[in-house]
Amino acid sequence: MSTHKITSEIFLENDKYSEKLTNGDTVTQFAFKCPSYMMKSKSKAKTVKYDEDDDLDVNREEEDCLNIEHNVSTELQMVGLQVWRGALLLADYILSNPNLFRQKVIMELGSGVGLTSIVASFVAKEVICTDINLGEILKLVQRNFMRNISYVKCKFHVEELNFLNLEWSKSLEEKVNMTDIFIAADVIYDDVITDGFVTTLGKLLSKGPKTAYIALEKRYVFTIADMETVAPMYEEFLRCIKRRNFNWNIEYIKIDFPRFFKYERVQHMILMKIENRINIL
Ligand SMILES: C[S@@+](CC[C@H](N)C(=O)[O-])C[C@H]1O[C@@H](n2cnc3c(N)ncnc32)[C@H](O)[C@@H]1O
Repeated sequence: MSTHKITSEIFLENDKYSEKLTNGDTVTQFAFKCPSYMMKSKSKAKTVKYDEDDDLDVNREEEDCLNIEHNVSTELQMVGLQVWRGALLLADYILSNPNLFRQKVIMELGSGVGLTSIVASFVAKEVICTDINLGEILKLVQRNFMRNISYVKCKFHVEELNFLNLEWSKSLEEKVNMTDIFIAADVIYDDVITDGFVTTLGKLLSKGPKTAYIALEKRYVFTIADMETVAPMYEEFLRCIKRRNFNWNIEYIKIDFPRFFKYERVQHMILMKIENRINIL
């Protein structure tokens, strides 16, 4: 079996703000520009301007940071122990559009270390952070919520939700029913997981009027077989949706909203909003 390890580009972009723990994990500071509505709640409201790139024009003293425990490199099946670009894109979208998420019950799928769920908790009514419990990831998420508890403004739960198991516990079923918005970042990277994710999303969106926001990195690969540039996992994701004949409305959100976290917002990133048409007619 391959023991090839990979490291997220996000860590390489942030490593100067990291510290090694005795358990072998690393804690990295993810600095973010504090949005005006958060500054108000911290009683230091200031006028926020946008610069010519549409990024928030704020100075360093208006920066905050999340301390996120994670692994530096992992094998493919443990990539949830790292932070990926989609997590930051989705976090930026939430911070840019607080009114869409304010006072909503938000469930994250394939949360990894929990960064986006922690950001969602700045404005949500309740956050349910889920992943498959491999490599004690759910305990790591719980620790990350506790490390950043001063930012967490709502109730939160950490639960297992495995895309390959549609038999949910009663407690998970109840949480799904009360959820308004599902979010997921960078969970499209493997055929089997993608298929399970699409099936799971189908079941989740059949449970009433609910919205999903899915962030992914459409990685381009040049294949000799196709003699062209393709994005295999993204295309497989679309094929899985089509195969199931879902009556979904899929909207592609322009990724030009303000950037709060520090990362390269590469052009092949995608943010999709998905709703079940049955519930929007
Ligand atoms: C590339 S990581 C993305 C993690 C996080 N969302 C981020 O963007 O940093 C993919 C995530 O999918 C999760 N995952 C893999 N297989 C899964 C399954 N069968 N059910 C639920 N989540 C799964 C992994 O544990 C991991 O957290």
